[in-house]
Amino acid sequence: MASTHGAHGILVASNRGPISYQTQDDGSLTARRGGGGLVSGLSAIGPDADALWVCAALGDGDREAVRRGVGEDGVRMLDIDAEVHAEAYNGIANSVLWFVHHMLYQTPLEPVFDAEFRRRWEAYRAYNGAFAEALAEEAAEGASVLVQDYHLCLVPGMLRVLRPDLRIGHFSHTPWAPVDYFRMLPDDIRAELLDGMLGADRLAFLTWRWATAFLDCAAEIDPGRYRVAPASGTTPPAVEHLDGAAPGRTRVGVHGLGADAEFLRARSHEDDVAERMAALREEIGAGRRTIVRVDRTELSKNIVRGLLAYRQLLDDHPEWHERVVHVAFAYPSRQDLAVYRDYTAEVQRVAEEINSRYGTPDWTPVVLHVKDDFARSLAAYRLADVALVNPIRDGMNLVAKEVPVVSDEGCALVLSREAGAYEELGDDAIRVNPYDVVGTARALHEALTMQPGERAERTKRLVAAATALPPARWFLDQLEALRS
Ligand code: F6P
Repeated sequence: MASTHGAHGILVASNRGPISYQTQDDGSLTARRGGGGLVSGLSAIGPDADALWVCAALGDGDREAVRRGVGEDGVRMLDIDAEVHAEAYNGIANSVLWFVHHMLYQTPLEPVFDAEFRRRWEAYRAYNGAFAEALAEEAAEGASVLVQDYHLCLVPGMLRVLRPDLRIGHFSHTPWAPVDYFRMLPDDIRAELLDGMLGADRLAFLTWRWATAFLDCAAEIDPGRYRVAPASGTTPPAVEHLDGAAPGRTRVGVHGLGADAEFLRARSHEDDVAERMAALREEIGAGRRTIVRVDRTELSKNIVRGLLAYRQLLDDHPEWHERVVHVAFAYPSRQDLAVYRDYTAEVQRVAEEINSRYGTPDWTPVVLHVKDDFARSLAAYRLADVALVNPIRDGMNLVAKEVPVVSDEGCALVLSREAGAYEELGDDAIRVNPYDVVGTARALHEALTMQPGERAERTKRLVAAATALPPARWFLDQLEALRS
């Protein structure tokens, strides 16, 4: 019988793909390319590897591109019904799973798992199903499939049923919730999520903290069906499938994505970055120290408490008045969700409040920008004396790794103990509890007063740790581990 399998030996699946399309006024389509670890990884394996990236069409431009058959070799965009996609992406992935893994609920009133939630869950299933079918169609016999993130937790299980011959991996870019928090999900949904993930041959996380949290959750589902085999010697931990369901066991591993030093150093010395530096210097004023943060305007990034800590610093240490500027870039994210729009407004309100309370005709204490500009972010990295990275919880946080690499004079890093990056950078960072505004203010003062020699020494070690696993190696390691 002729094989109905596809031609691709390596497949990546993620909600957001490497390219997006915009429809112009004259009806033509323009493409914008993204960066990140997966892009570097796929370019590292080269064009002969028959790789395919399966992603969702996210906006009208993407959908139009799919309809017109416009596309790029090596990318397949799925035109999933817009309402199904919105309910799965906004309604479940970003409003439920993201909140659970980042512990963002205000629990007296939320979450509420009602009939509406169940309806959205159906959409999440359908959206995962569309990915599983496309992957099953495109994958060559025995191909390796790398599924990404909390959007696609059900894909490994669904794909396993359709194509038992494949090697299936799943990578979580987020933290994983502690077992007591994960237990908030309805029992059947919790089991469905874990069953979905455990359809994979191998699951990978950014740190052992998140991998262990997953294993704790898996140990609870159904002791008759799954058993957690802890790590022993050089053998990594695994979840054994006791009811005979393929693949018998799911291995669990860790790959701590690092900063792409080569790219960042070259890109941050291009002309547009120099222009942005000149403009920023103007806004900051001569001779002032900078506390830099760059984030998506994301609830888990804790931007508001960062501003409150800066206000506390100005209260506690009047000697910093006129001598320091908090450069805060908070770029738009997930604006379809009201809670993100409200958070953006709160960031702007607190920044304005600080500026009107302390600002002088010659000094703007907070320079806030809310429009995405990569060159300007790099310019801020170069000018940073202090990097403030204080998330409530974060899978890794690449900004914590990037600023030390790019900063011209080396920087002191104020880092939340709840960021995945803390596992690798903690020894040379100034640690903060992200909820403790007074403690964070103290840490900012310590960072601002760090002696140049110590700052240079620490930066050297931060850079070494931050660049230990560059994106291309990070990706190739996952692929090798899945195949081994
Ligand atoms: O950390 C998870 C993640 O999906 C990242 O991979 C990505 O950079 C970020 O969240 C942004 O998410 P979105 O695609 O919703 O903008």
